[in-house]
Amino acid sequence: MSEPLPLSADAAHAVDRYLVATLVGEDPALAAAVADQRAAGMPDIEVAPTGGKLLHLLARAIGARRVLEIGTLGGYSTIWLARALPDGGSVTTIEAEPAHAAVAQASIDRAGVGEKVEIRVGRGADVLPTLEGAPPFDLVFIDADKESNTIYLDWAVRLGRPGALVIVDNVVRSGRVADPADDSAQVAGVRAGLAMLRDDPRFDATALQTLDAKGWDGIALAVLA
Ligand code: DHB
Ligand code: MG
Repeated sequence: MSEPLPLSADAAHAVDRYLVATLVGEDPALAAAVADQRAAGMPDIEVAPTGGKLLHLLARAIGARRVLEIGTLGGYSTIWLARALPDGGSVTTIEAEPAHAAVAQASIDRAGVGEKVEIRVGRGADVLPTLEGAPPFDLVFIDADKESNTIYLDWAVRLGRPGALVIVDNVVRSGRVADPADDSAQVAGVRAGLAMLRDDPRFDATALQTLDAKGWDGIALAVLA
């Protein structure tokens, strides 16, 4: 066993602020996207700054040209991803709420990446089949209703290229994923997604816990066969 952690929420938040100040910094377009999302009364569940930059760096590291995002919200992660792409690259991002998509579109345009982003408005399960036949995606970011994670993972396989990177947000949920007493539909969806990543030979996966501006959560990462 490792030593007990000298961990408090205050200490973790101080570290997060330090890391953001040191390595991520401030950005007017991203700050405006978050501000407009808040002003529109949308939930403040976009990825943390460190998480947004992680998505950006992963997309760059794999040389992604085509990205699929499921769950646009206010476009914060979309902007991070779009900025990672070379000329001619694209993010296709799916948002179920038309009002959210409108806020996101304005923020994406203001960030100067409007030409790289296509927002598709509709439920993932309805929009994803319409993407069949498009050139395959290099990276898929799943960050929508957790109940549908296995559906989204299945589409990630169908629409991703061999070797594509698949990232699933919110797989820890303040530890609830490992709490046997939690029988919520959201956590059941998260667990089903993780079991699929384990059992389905089309994936090779791991997951990391995160402690950041959004609290205690985590991401799963998989590479497609
Ligand atoms: C929720 C969804 C998210 O994608 C997230 O990052 C945090 C919370 C939610 O539905 O509660
Ligand atoms: Mg999320």
